[in-house]
Amino acid sequence: MPDDTPHSFKTLGHSVVDALDQYRRTSRAGQTSVLPKTDPATLAQQMDLENWIRKGGLDANTVEQFLAPYLDASQHLHHPGFIGHQVATPHTGAAMADLVHGAINNAMAVYEMGPSATVVERVIINWMLEKTGWFAGQGLMDFSRHSQTGAGVLTHGGSLANLTAVLAARAAASPEAWEDGNPDNLAIIAPSVTHYSVTRAASIAGLGQNAVFSAPTNALGVLEPEHLGRAHAQAREQGRRVFMVSVNACATATGLYDPIDEVADYCAAHDLWLHVDGAHGASALLSADERHKMKGIARANSLTWDAHKMLRTSALCAAILFKNQHALAQAFSQDGSYIFYDDEPDNFDVGRTTVECTKAALGTKLFWVLAIEGEEKLGQFVHNQYRDTQRFYELICAQDDFECPYVPQSNILCFRYLPCADNDAQMALRTALIERENFYITTAMVDGYRYLRLSVMNPLTTTATIKALLDEVRDCAADLER
Ligand SMILES: Cc1ncc(COP(=O)(O)O)c(C=O)c1O
Repeated sequence: MPDDTPHSFKTLGHSVVDALDQYRRTSRAGQTSVLPKTDPATLAQQMDLENWIRKGGLDANTVEQFLAPYLDASQHLHHPGFIGHQVATPHTGAAMADLVHGAINNAMAVYEMGPSATVVERVIINWMLEKTGWFAGQGLMDFSRHSQTGAGVLTHGGSLANLTAVLAARAAASPEAWEDGNPDNLAIIAPSVTHYSVTRAASIAGLGQNAVFSAPTNALGVLEPEHLGRAHAQAREQGRRVFMVSVNACATATGLYDPIDEVADYCAAHDLWLHVDGAHGASALLSADERHKMKGIARANSLTWDAHKMLRTSALCAAILFKNQHALAQAFSQDGSYIFYDDEPDNFDVGRTTVECTKAALGTKLFWVLAIEGEEKLGQFVHNQYRDTQRFYELICAQDDFECPYVPQSNILCFRYLPCADNDAQMALRTALIERENFYITTAMVDGYRYLRLSVMNPLTTTATIKALLDEVRDCAADLER
């Protein structure tokens, strides 16, 4: 096909890029709804989906008919009023990586299917291992297996990363489980506020939900290491063998960090696998100002780290990292030597150590962001989001009619409008607020109370945005009373 037909990659591509550019501009200027109210049936009609499917005909001249309603009805993450879920406002670099991957589709089960994408992933993994303290190579392009270098792989999401950690920890505790199935007494300890993907992983791995014992926490759900022994004793009384402790860095609802270093003391003393779910908060490792929140990380056994949360990539780009390079191979085998023959050169087939077989070029998303910004600026971004959230906390606390339950440690912040303090009223406020389409926020339960919740993902969200948000919450409350 010549390059200038309406179907051609270049011509259609230009129309799509023009539409996206306009979308980004109006979103960033706050000139759109954050989340337009739509019902699914109307939306399907507006996009004329059945007609397109039956007849085709989408090209550079007609693409607008589909793309306009599609983009209008989207959640506008570039809008400064998007302060909702822990999903990155995507960086241009990540979008370009998605475009390149979409055009060349180098899947990565084995090296031959995507040599360049595989190499990018390995360098990105080395970079993440370096930040964690598990890399002993001579530069990021050193692929040799130094005994002090860990291992890792990128997964389609933190949930798969957590599952991989559970499998690796189980393999360490019970190497026969891969072939024979689980012994019936294995158990995990984790705070009850742990992301559901960890308990779900326990079920998927065949351990069952009842194998997960709640770690003692304070009222905010932060693990209290001095009481860890209580949960351990409780598990033992039930005839269980605890093999793993999973901690939050940081917790999904509150953004608060568990004390990794102290938990590492307990795990070292009792020979337990320490998993750190840093899906959201591990990015603090990039900032000299925030890194202390991950203190002790190098003593953990595994770390989940999502780039599509705080490192500005589009979904999905998550990593599971291990301190011990053999742990990753053992997650998917009863015998690590199956993968890591000491005398066999590394074959770079990532599919051997992932739940997925075919896999997207995940590492390229983060690579492009890094290649544009550089690691220092990306660390500065994480710090800025955390610092701004602290400022928003101070602003909210200075209002007589609002309260926050804790000082934020990340870019996640909970708050309540006091005149409507009960749980249902906070929920109604959030519903009324997002129906106005100027802001998108979520809610969370903290210590039995429902709070409004901000995830400050967008660098365009400023103090002025939060002031306007508070006014709109007040206005919604007044409306609800009428
Ligand atoms: C602490 C934590 N762990 C795991 C996950 C799941 O990650 P993903 O959505 O990438 O599967 C989340 C998602 O919000 C999270 O906050």
